[in-house]
Amino acid sequence: MKPPHAAHSPQTLTRPLTLPNGSVLRNRLAKSAMSEALGTYDNHATPRLVTLYRRWAASGIGLLVTGNVMVDRRALGEPGNVVIEDDTDLPLLRQWARAATDQGAAIWVQLNHPGKQSPKGLNRRNLSPSAVPFRPDLQAFFDTPHEATEAEILDIVQRFGRSAAVCKQAGFSGVQIHGAHGYLVSQFLSPHHNQRTDGWGGSPEKRRRFVLAVYAEIRRQVGPDFPVGIKLNSADFQRGGMDEAESADTMRALAEAGIDLIEVSGGTYEAPAMTGVKADKSGASATPKASTVAREAYFLTFAEQLRQTVKVPLMVTGGFRTAAGMNAALDSGALDVVGIARLMAIDPDAPAALLRGQNSPQEVARIRTGIPLVDRAAMMEVMWYTRQLQRIAAGRPTRPRESGLWAFLAAVVHSGWGSFRTRRLRA
Ligand SMILES: Cc1cc2nc3c(=O)[nH]c(=O)nc-3n(C[C@H](O)[C@H](O)[C@H](O)COP(=O)(O)O)c2cc1C
Repeated sequence: MKPPHAAHSPQTLTRPLTLPNGSVLRNRLAKSAMSEALGTYDNHATPRLVTLYRRWAASGIGLLVTGNVMVDRRALGEPGNVVIEDDTDLPLLRQWARAATDQGAAIWVQLNHPGKQSPKGLNRRNLSPSAVPFRPDLQAFFDTPHEATEAEILDIVQRFGRSAAVCKQAGFSGVQIHGAHGYLVSQFLSPHHNQRTDGWGGSPEKRRRFVLAVYAEIRRQVGPDFPVGIKLNSADFQRGGMDEAESADTMRALAEAGIDLIEVSGGTYEAPAMTGVKADKSGASATPKASTVAREAYFLTFAEQLRQTVKVPLMVTGGFRTAAGMNAALDSGALDVVGIARLMAIDPDAPAALLRGQNSPQEVARIRTGIPLVDRAAMMEVMWYTRQLQRIAAGRPTRPRESGLWAFLAAVVHSGWGSFRTRRLRA
């Protein structure tokens, strides 16, 4: 256990933030998206999500971004994803939204399409801008996708808009496009994954056409006053992937188009920089540089540079741990909102302490199984933390010391069974 630091003052973290469209976040602390895998095997929301978000909202946090919610039930990222395609689940979605809004927290639904980044055996067929295979050591887990047709692309764009409209109807406070971490939007932005030569690829402008089309369709369906944000990579940290210059240009284009909040992250499941691990070209991993650790946040330098030209509110996620680090980053002017993820999965009350200028007694540690291939991929951490947040959803205490190997084995069995059940239910 870490002793709580002395209160830091002034506490910029506690200051409300007015977004460009006039909606207000009660403070500058946000829970970033963490996939809960708490949907049913046929992908409906469940009351456990209501319990989880009620608990998180009670911590005093300003914004809760949900884990990724899929816009197409034929394209899941993992078993237990919630899918929103139509208004079938409105009663439960309303309860989920109210779990946060009744307590003064904003709640935005993160909308996603996995593209190729979906485990083997879950979906019948995966698509991507181009039929590019995964890195050889990951090909056992992920299939090579087919190249999306023009009709498939236009259908997905429309689906993002429709899902956002249902979220608005259900009483959620906003939506966030998942444009980061190697999923479909990020695949379109990447010169490595997007090798098209038609109107959707071949130049930076054409690669960003998909994300701009998704944003425009959402805006068309939700109107001007509903907050629409996006999570984007500062860079993919992958050979041939999107670099920082192209990412900054995309952010500027989205800012001009009217986006309300840009969340900066980085990496993909082939190079998981979002959790502080940077894979080199061979896929070997390294821990973050000492200078990054000292400044806590992984993508702060990028945000500082971006801030020079982008006036839209910025949120930065990845590595934030202490109240002093968060307040210092906000005071630097580089960002407007601090995003935290893993800490919320082991300490759902962390925001209460952080907003008082104190630290959580829990520490976010690197989770390892001892199996090198597994420990190199971000999937391991995700599985471990998912189990923790599922305990909160069940009204149980978290287990910050649970063994990585045990959690991995349990998650593999659960995920294999989940994929089987999902396929059976669709048969
Ligand atoms: C269990 C788990 C699930 C995650 N699911 C998502 C997700 O659905 N969408 C997303 O954008 N990021 C997801 N992430 C990444 C986090 O939002 C965040 O970017 C990352 O954990 C770094 O922040 P942290 O250092 O505060 O944990 C997930 C991370 C974890 C640990």
